[in-house]
Amino acid sequence: MNKISAAITAVGAYVPEYVLTNQILETMVDTNDEWITSRTGIKERRILKDDGKGTSYLAIKAAQDLINKKGIDPRNIELVIVATATPDMKAASTASFTASEIGAVNAFSFDMDAACSSFLFGMSVAASYIESGRYKNVLLIGADKMSSIINYKDRATCIIFGDGAGAVLFEGSNEGLGLQDEYLRSDGTGREFLQATYGGSSHKLTAEALADGGQYAFQEGRTVFKNAVFNMADAAERILKRNNLTKETVDWLAAHQANKRIIDATANRIELEPEKVMMNIEKYGNTTSATLPLLINDYESQLKKGDNVIFAAFGGGFNWGAIYLKWAY
Ligand code: UT7
Repeated sequence: MNKISAAITAVGAYVPEYVLTNQILETMVDTNDEWITSRTGIKERRILKDDGKGTSYLAIKAAQDLINKKGIDPRNIELVIVATATPDMKAASTASFTASEIGAVNAFSFDMDAACSSFLFGMSVAASYIESGRYKNVLLIGADKMSSIINYKDRATCIIFGDGAGAVLFEGSNEGLGLQDEYLRSDGTGREFLQATYGGSSHKLTAEALADGGQYAFQEGRTVFKNAVFNMADAAERILKRNNLTKETVDWLAAHQANKRIIDATANRIELEPEKVMMNIEKYGNTTSATLPLLINDYESQLKKGDNVIFAAFGGGFNWGAIYLKWAY
């Protein structure tokens, strides 16, 4: 019997309408377009303005886009995973609400959080369910309403993050297409450098913490940057080496969009030409769990069956890694 591999067979995406440009940020904090563009590559990001709408709103829209494009009946979806660092609420998963709203009434569902690596790790989880033969399809959604944990008075973080969502469908392939290999790692000693500290089980969101902005994400940018450059490039290089891939046989790099300089460093390490490096950070900023599916959605028309795609990410936790996937359509 042929081994089943786990292929991506459809993509969908959604970003909110409101565009927060560098010029608008100049009126909010002490920053400027030149600094943001040269240090990060970001020009604008999308923000979900409606306070009554959470991450599920983005996830549902992205999933519906996929369902409409692929023309599938949502009742046939077997598992819905929402990769997110900003769930709608502490209890009652974002995925179960999302699954019901899109009509995936025969599915089970759960959330997954590995900060900016949530979608990358989610690919590994989704693929495992398919490869085991236990499920025929998995809808993996990467969605984050980062604006819900960003302090728009803190220039170290508010210039970077944006809101968005992307969705992919994993199905079995008998042609050996889809996920080929993965190198995934975590190092919890890094969590002090990037976290939203309060409101979880270890630090109560007290009135004092709230007054101090404790509900917002904090980042020690320089340390995260150094670790991201080293580890994302290292993971990508390892995946290439152990699969005998070269700069000629890799067709695309889909790297987490946190900072253009980190993506360039990863591409340089594996000596990849800029034409093979997917990039949309200028439009959306860092959407955390949504960067990878938003990338493949934007590049979908350029991808060809059999293309060798390297996915890579690094984020809070620390969590990072790389995945080698053969495009299936
Ligand atoms: O997705 C999860 C993983 N996250 C990441 O991968 C993010 C990694 N980190 C980064 O991308 C970068 O560290 C940042 C974009 C956050 C910051 O860039 P940097 O080149 O590391 O800047 P820095 O923090 O070293 O700051 C350099 C200078 C400082 O001024 P002094 O001390 O040199 O006078 C900052 O105060 O730039 C200043 N600065 C700013 N200036 C204008 C910091 N933020 C801003 C700003 N506008 N928004």
